[in-house]
Amino acid sequence: MTQTSGFQPPGKIDFLDVLPTPRPQLERLLILAARLKKQYRATGRNEPLAAGKTLAMIFEKPSLRTRVSFEAAMHHLGGAAIYISPGEIGLGRRESVPDAARVLSGFCDAIMARTFSHQTIELLARHSPRPVINGLSDYSHPCQALADMLTIQERCGDLRGLTLAYVGDGNNVARSLMEACATFGLKFRIASPPGYELDPQSIQRTCQAVPGFDCSTGADPRQAIRSADVIYTDTWVSMGRENEKQERLRVFGPYQVNSELLAAAPSQAAVMHCLPAYRGVEITDEVMDSPRSIVFAQAENRLHFQKGLLAALIGGQ
Ligand code: CP
Ligand code: NVA
Repeated sequence: MTQTSGFQPPGKIDFLDVLPTPRPQLERLLILAARLKKQYRATGRNEPLAAGKTLAMIFEKPSLRTRVSFEAAMHHLGGAAIYISPGEIGLGRRESVPDAARVLSGFCDAIMARTFSHQTIELLARHSPRPVINGLSDYSHPCQALADMLTIQERCGDLRGLTLAYVGDGNNVARSLMEACATFGLKFRIASPPGYELDPQSIQRTCQAVPGFDCSTGADPRQAIRSADVIYTDTWVSMGRENEKQERLRVFGPYQVNSELLAAAPSQAAVMHCLPAYRGVEITDEVMDSPRSIVFAQAENRLHFQKGLLAALIGGQ
């Protein structure tokens, strides 16, 4: 018997980031997600597109939305999901990442992973013959960004030409949103405190990949949201950054999304947050609970987008 190493059968597709995925494929995913959502809403029923299939879900960090929406998505599609809690595998300690990838691929049809290091997800993908999905890394959160495009489309219609303004930390969520905005033709504005900006390499790569991408960065949140259709924020203290909390709370104070800041934006601008939100920190109750806030529709769309994604990756769609 021979052992294969890094074997990837033809046709295996991973979803690790927004940008390398061709635009027509991403557009297809949104159409598929919208179709499955509409059908589920209208009939309460789903097509058993993943009947008999199993998704392994590796979590090195906590999660509410990602865990439950993937698990519910597999249930809706007639399959099953297995939750692997932080520390359970001991990825890279108890067992090497390539070994875990090969073993899980023998049991399951796809792997979704939430990891600290993005390299861990890349390594899983390299060694798994099954599709690997990024459920958030320190670098990116592509499922969130694509679900967000679905939400913005529902709220605003055609994505092309809209302006998304991100206020806060230049983090994993911001990076994937930037890539999604570039891909779908939205203008992207980002305001972050000095020292906490999106790295210039990511911006440059995105601008190179999508010529004509309208992207601007700065430190002034009022300037960023001036002509926004959507204002987006995220926690100032991402998972894994807890030791920087005190300093971050001090530095990010002027970047709170509150009524005073929103007064500088067009009155129809919607407010988004990937959640979990630290109410009274990066966003106030008043804004979270206002009619401008679409955060809960946004959270629900994680389910619908991921149903589309799973249907495409393992459901033959
Ligand atoms: N937005 C998001 O990914 O939420 P969880 O961390 O709860 O999965
Ligand atoms: N930037 C946040 C997103 C949580 C969904 C984090 O990485 O913790």
